[in-house]
Amino acid sequence: MKVTWILPDGGEISADVADGVNMMAAAVEHNIPGITGECGGNLSCATCHVYVADDWTGKTGSPDDFEDAMLDVAEAERKDCSRLSCQIVANAALDGLVLVVPAA
Ligand code: FES
Repeated sequence: MKVTWILPDGGEISADVADGVNMMAAAVEHNIPGITGECGGNLSCATCHVYVADDWTGKTGSPDDFEDAMLDVAEAERKDCSRLSCQIVANAALDGLVLVVPAA
């Protein structure tokens, strides 16, 4: 699937991501600024916080209770479209996904 990250400066980075790879790991692999994934995807850091673009919020699901709690301590402002990108896993239904990287 293809994913595009929109950066705080308005720039965009797109990449092909294999099914089963989470969006934090994909971001780190492609050197997306602002996504560090310090806990390795264990829901204990919130350094993978992203905003899911409008067209995609219905397809990426909702945070579970653990993710919801971690989003409350994310550094950037929490929005309705906030997700921890380690919890979004690539699959064919998400082809074209757009994620917005919060400003630091
Ligand atoms: S990588 Fe730490 S919560 Fe997602």
